Amino acid sequence: MNQQENSRRFFLKTSSVLAVFAMIPRTAKAFYEEVKNFFVPNKEILPLSLSINKKKYTVKADTRTTLLDLLREELQLTGTKKGCDHGQCGACTVHVNGERVLSCLTLAAMVPGKEVTTIEGLANGDKLHPMQQAFIECDGFQCGYCTPGQIMSAVACVNEGHTGSVAEIKEFMSGNLCRCGAYNGIVQSIQKVAP
Ligand code: FES
Ligand code: FES
Repeated sequence: MNQQENSRRFFLKTSSVLAVFAMIPRTAKAFYEEVKNFFVPNKEILPLSLSINKKKYTVKADTRTTLLDLLREELQLTGTKKGCDHGQCGACTVHVNGERVLSCLTLAAMVPGKEVTTIEGLANGDKLHPMQQAFIECDGFQCGYCTPGQIMSAVACVNEGHTGSVAEIKEFMSGNLCRCGAYNGIVQSIQKVAP
């Protein structure tokens, strides 16, 4: 085999290998796009009419927006807190049609036609809700971060009638965590308001 033939073979082999390498990024990218399109729905903006704390709001939101993010980021109702954002701490508890829900696990698109109540809507003008007053009187909080969620859950706990004993209150408030450990004050607050 002469030198010219060797060079030709070397050129052909090298260019084939380079061509394969050049294909990989494009193929990988196309594959990634296909997988992404399959699992991640396309962005879709919906007009939403909401009733929050008895006030009407008309907003446009991505269908994937959680009620928590809509309240905090779009409507500046920041009383509702984001703790875990995964349904584990209760900091984001609000009421939907009077029932407690975790707003981090509720899509904003699920609540049109329903009444949403947040901690900002609990007081009657300047008069605190009895549960808010009880939390103050019974030392139901320390840093206060979990408190809006605790109070919303506590109000629901009373309305649900789960206040028969300390054990029952603890069980039905167990979805609301308090890193400061203000649990005794929280239970006492609920007992104070319970019929
Ligand atoms: S932020 Fe919703 S449960 Fe923690
Ligand atoms: S009062 Fe601080 S986390 Fe509950």
